Amino acid sequence: MVLRSLELLVLLFCPHTSLGLANIIMMLRTKATCVNLFIFVNLSGKYSLYILSNNGPNITLFYYFCTSLIYSDMRKGVLVTGGTGYIGSHTVVELLEAGYYVIIVDNLSNSDESVIDGIEAITGIRPDFVKADCRNIETLEKLFEKGRFDSIIHFAAAKAVGESVEKPLEYYHNNILSLINIISLMRRYNVPNLVFSSSCTVYGQPEVLPATEQTPRLEAESPYGNTKRICEDIIRDSVKAYDSISAIALRYFNPIGAHPSALIGELPRGIPNNLLPYVTQTAAGIREVLSIFGDDYNTPDGFCIRDYIDINDLAAAHVAALKRMICGKMKENFEVFNIGTGRGVSTMEIVKTFEKVNGLSLKYRITGRRAGDIEAMWADPSYANEELGWYARKSLYETLRSAWKWQQRLCGVDISDE
Ligand code: NAD
Ligand code: WQD
Repeated sequence: MVLRSLELLVLLFCPHTSLGLANIIMMLRTKATCVNLFIFVNLSGKYSLYILSNNGPNITLFYYFCTSLIYSDMRKGVLVTGGTGYIGSHTVVELLEAGYYVIIVDNLSNSDESVIDGIEAITGIRPDFVKADCRNIETLEKLFEKGRFDSIIHFAAAKAVGESVEKPLEYYHNNILSLINIISLMRRYNVPNLVFSSSCTVYGQPEVLPATEQTPRLEAESPYGNTKRICEDIIRDSVKAYDSISAIALRYFNPIGAHPSALIGELPRGIPNNLLPYVTQTAAGIREVLSIFGDDYNTPDGFCIRDYIDINDLAAAHVAALKRMICGKMKENFEVFNIGTGRGVSTMEIVKTFEKVNGLSLKYRITGRRAGDIEAMWADPSYANEELGWYARKSLYETLRSAWKWQQRLCGVDISDE
């Protein structure tokens, strides 16, 4: 009778995976006559085991036994493709801090291996890293053969909108073939869980804002945008056909900022296309002046509006999505979530807030509109709030502070006192 109520207690606190749960319950049944009280607590993804007992030595052994079971189970792990990239590296930090075992695969086409040092410096754990290209199925298969992960977060893709217009075939080849390889190997090796990096770009310019997950996807403005739409369709069709696979696509809005430690952040190659790296590089004197594209939009201040989401909040959404899959909470085998703040902020508001929080003045000029820019975009994130229990928590102030701190670190400024 006592054991039954303990089982119930364990179930209520939802241990991370069913295998760990089964083992712990077996232990209670067969050996743990000494246990008086056993509580498994999940606090923001961190796991603790509390046992109260009047039987000292036995309970210590029991504690270590249970802890190792939980730990070994968690160590089934996550394969993170594109894990040395901007969003990938911040997500790896969140995963490691939540206790997951992580293997990164990246071809370093748009990132640097030194990012692993930053991840290690933040978490104290060095994730496994394999330099490989997701287009090469033979190399990828070697990782799957070892069977050390049951989930995949697939970031690896080329992402420069302008470049995709010039090199469409490269974008289709990279972004689509990589995903097909991943899904094929998930089937072959019974890897059940996939989290995919999608984008608000699939909505184009919605007629009604904020964009919900039901907002119609429009014809893509660029080959890059089209790859996200096609990849979502490939996933939807695949989970329909193959029962063994479940997937969550996260549609990111505009990720900005860096880890508060400034040990990892965005590493743009060449002249940045995105607003924030251009802002920070201008503030650092690397770029002469920031061009603000258009002041004649039909918005309150005439400037474009976006939903800027802190990179650490975005990273946390991946852990929330993974937990939903692992804990068997999905309502359908393929789910889509908007990952944004729900707040629209104009380009000029970004510039003015950046100046204010960092106590500097930015050289900018207002130029004509950038071809292909949409006027306004922001998310309705309530589905992610309700279903994933995920919220964007960082203020724009904190985010723009971290962006500048990271830029200073890249420039070799000593920021140790800050
Ligand atoms: P990133 O370029 O910093 O990271 C992508 C990583 O994937 C890089 O490290 C790159 O070297 C690697 N990569 C690319 N092709 C690969 C391949 N074939 N095999 C192995 N590794 C490969 O980009 P990011 O901003 O971190 O974006 C991550 C994902 O999120 C991408 O899928 C991107 O399309 C998507 N996304 C990004 C944004 C954004 O604004 N940054 C917005 C929406 C969606
Ligand atoms: C933001 C705002 C610019 C640079 C891109 C991709 C999209 C998605 C998100 C991946 C706009 C203005 C910018 C500059 C400026 N990525 N701006 N001066 O355009 O929302 O979307 O990132 O999936 O696919 O296209 O982001 O950072 O380029 O621009 O005035 O030098 O800043 O006009 O209003 P965008 P962005």
